[in-house]
Amino acid sequence: MGLRNVKPKFNAGFSLFLSFALESCVDRLVITGGSSLKGRILVSGAKNAALPCIAAALLSPEPVLLSHLPAVSDIRTMLKVLEALGCSVVRVPDEDGLQYTATIQAADLEQGELKAPYELVKTMRASILVLGPLLARFGRATVSLPGGCAIGARPINLHLEALTRMGAHIEIIQGYVEAKVPGGRLQAIDHTFEKVSVGATENTMLAATLAEGTSILRNAALEPEIGDLAELLNKMGARITGMGTTTLTIQGVAALHGSAHATIPDRIEAGTHLCAVAIAGGDVVLERVRPDDLRSLIDLLERMGCLITERDGAEGRQLRVQRELSQKLRARDITTAPFPSFPTDLQAQAMAVMTQAHGISVIKETIFENRFQHAMELERLGANLRIDGSTAIVAGPAKLTGCTVMATDLRASATLVLAGLVAEGETTVDRIYHLDRGYAGLEKKLEGVGARIQRMGGGSV
Ligand code: UD1
Repeated sequence: MGLRNVKPKFNAGFSLFLSFALESCVDRLVITGGSSLKGRILVSGAKNAALPCIAAALLSPEPVLLSHLPAVSDIRTMLKVLEALGCSVVRVPDEDGLQYTATIQAADLEQGELKAPYELVKTMRASILVLGPLLARFGRATVSLPGGCAIGARPINLHLEALTRMGAHIEIIQGYVEAKVPGGRLQAIDHTFEKVSVGATENTMLAATLAEGTSILRNAALEPEIGDLAELLNKMGARITGMGTTTLTIQGVAALHGSAHATIPDRIEAGTHLCAVAIAGGDVVLERVRPDDLRSLIDLLERMGCLITERDGAEGRQLRVQRELSQKLRARDITTAPFPSFPTDLQAQAMAVMTQAHGISVIKETIFENRFQHAMELERLGANLRIDGSTAIVAGPAKLTGCTVMATDLRASATLVLAGLVAEGETTVDRIYHLDRGYAGLEKKLEGVGARIQRMGGGSV
């Protein structure tokens, strides 16, 4: 297939990664509020879709070429996990440096330790996605337990339960998941997930592709990232049906081959830009989006008073978002829930917009128990809100005034940037290494449409 035997080598990708490394030492954004936004933004590939696709490369000894990978630190970490397992990875950056292509080859791993070390896994929970493919192909794996997370407990019991039912013998030893398949090959299961989990659905799907027999996964997650992973796996020779429904059927095959795949556009990045225009006002066209992945947010912003239109563009579908500053935003309520309901990953950004809406907006967070940390920082900027357990009550419009605020997690960082766009004076968002985990050049993209935003060095990490 023309992609065989890719050898690791130094290339332009090395300088891209050197620049990431340097960037991570630089940790604050300074935003001067008050500019409305106008222009075009090209949305990068989706981090959350790319992560399981990278793990999928472990299922075949042949190369898997993944394009539109966003230049964010979580993707860099996942590729390092694969390198630590013995894979070769060749990275080639795109022209703008915000995306790249990686060719991953998982040949000759059999003799290796097959261990995903704590040092990498602790920085990125999605590393657990290597467990399913390693067990499916090699019958053994050692993966560090990911540990806690700022937004909640984030257990992996659903992943381990499904893999155990497939025949894996799993023990937790000194902080590591030590897993073996006594018979060598995982067995298909008819399994109902007790709770909808994106990660557990992905890990089990990955494992089931090479299992013996036909697996049926019920109460599977419906997130667009699941469909994207299934598409790559089917290109690699897997037999998965039921995409877009809560029941996936996976007929196990003996081996998978290499393939090439372009990552879908990042719905959370696109949603963050939609919120940026909603809060700052303006007229922005988002290039390379999938509007169907964003229905719940589009619906919210339209109900709040934004005008959003769709059409075809050179890079795929486009979304144009308009909000005149004279157009008052209306307060509206949301409840986060699995796709297609409102995504928890856009809850924080929506809260920033609600601070500027007229009236009381109520947010119910049902996915993670500790996902309102941005609220306290928004209050420091002048937001008027109250947290009551898993409910946030936001009264608007509040006059926001710039100050120094601290990013606490990935999406919370984006919210503070959004609030800074409308706050009077200067807002400094500290600890933006959280932001760099999931957004490729957010400040460059916002600056490109007229925001006054600058990355500064010298802060503490
Ligand atoms: C993924 C996304 C993350 C998003 C989340 C929910 C990636 C890399 N990350 O995370 O950005 O916020 O979906 O849309 O795609 N749970 C359990 N046991 C488990 C697994 C999960 O109880 O074994 C619970 C979680 O605590 C949470 C809920 O299930 O309350 C949903 O989590 P899940 O969908 O698994 O999130 P992730 O896949 O980790």
